[in-house]
Amino acid sequence: MSNIIHVPLGSRAYEVHVGPGLLARSGELVAPLLRRPRVAVVTDEAVGALHLDALRAGLAAADIEMTALTLPPGEATKCWAQLERVTEWLLAAQIERNDVVIALGGGVIGDLVGFSAAILRRGVRFVQIPTSLLAQVDSSVGGKTGINSAKGKNLIGAFHQPSLVLADIDLLATLKSRDFLAGYGEVVKYGMLGDAAFFDWLEGHAPDMAAGDTGARIHAVSRSVQMKADIVARDETEQGDRALLNLGHTFCHALEAATGYSDRLLHGEGVAIGCALAFELSARLGLCPQETPSRVRAHLRDMKMKVDLSDIKGDLPDAPSLLALMAQDKKVKDGRLHFILARDIGEAFVTSDVPPEAVLSVLEDALAAR
Ligand code: GLY
Repeated sequence: MSNIIHVPLGSRAYEVHVGPGLLARSGELVAPLLRRPRVAVVTDEAVGALHLDALRAGLAAADIEMTALTLPPGEATKCWAQLERVTEWLLAAQIERNDVVIALGGGVIGDLVGFSAAILRRGVRFVQIPTSLLAQVDSSVGGKTGINSAKGKNLIGAFHQPSLVLADIDLLATLKSRDFLAGYGEVVKYGMLGDAAFFDWLEGHAPDMAAGDTGARIHAVSRSVQMKADIVARDETEQGDRALLNLGHTFCHALEAATGYSDRLLHGEGVAIGCALAFELSARLGLCPQETPSRVRAHLRDMKMKVDLSDIKGDLPDAPSLLALMAQDKKVKDGRLHFILARDIGEAFVTSDVPPEAVLSVLEDALAAR
């Protein structure tokens, strides 16, 4: 059974389907978007080896022909060179203004291909088929597309909404446990930022979800996507509320930079640690109950996730250096650090009113506990 979530953005509105068996039904679901029965698919080597044949078969069931480009896996693919490669390939494949491009993969493929679709012939439509939990609940929805610069992650890009998102829950079965749990960092973030009842549900059901329970996975992905759709509908280009989606991300980006965007810390792992630190900071500033950070940490521990700075192997810079990395984050406006803090679980808010000394003391204590 699939759920369909509407992202109500006027002329840019679209649907996100969440459920099992969607790759097999991709032809029937994509066909209404097409003016001719032909699509271009971009994927990476790891995902392509697992799912490209199934996508080809699903499209062929509706007599849709596909041509595919397979890129190297990994964050390094989100670069100018691969953007040029994808875009020139789409031109060579004679993808026209009315055609549709499909991104089959995780966040890297979705961001890169979405950006290429945004600039190709001043914008062609694209479909996201996210294959990681992180991409299903976050990056495939909301239209943020782009690549990395040597000066930082996601600094080059465009808002370009997909025309359809197919989040096939069956594809999560091929994820490594570490990648699944990193994606879970973004799922639990939704409960923490805006839905205490969802957080309660996750405390009870997330272990089943991690163990493979399809019903739990459908519910968790659907609820996450619905929350993202609601926020994006209110604030498509992040002038206000959309920043709530960055709960935990200011700490996370500093930790990712400190660990060289390497395997030492996956993005979703950094989000989980960052959320725990954001609740700690909220409690110390007297904004949320003193026991809330412990509840957050207990759930993350229960899920066998990274929670503390001691869960990051190897050296970390000292607290002032981490604070300096936070100040380089692109959420800095007019030189002031913007934080997402919380009054309790499910009650996050955006503020620029955070004394740097308070952040420093949270970081110093977290480092001292390593
Ligand atoms: N990943 C945060 C956003 O889409 O706004």
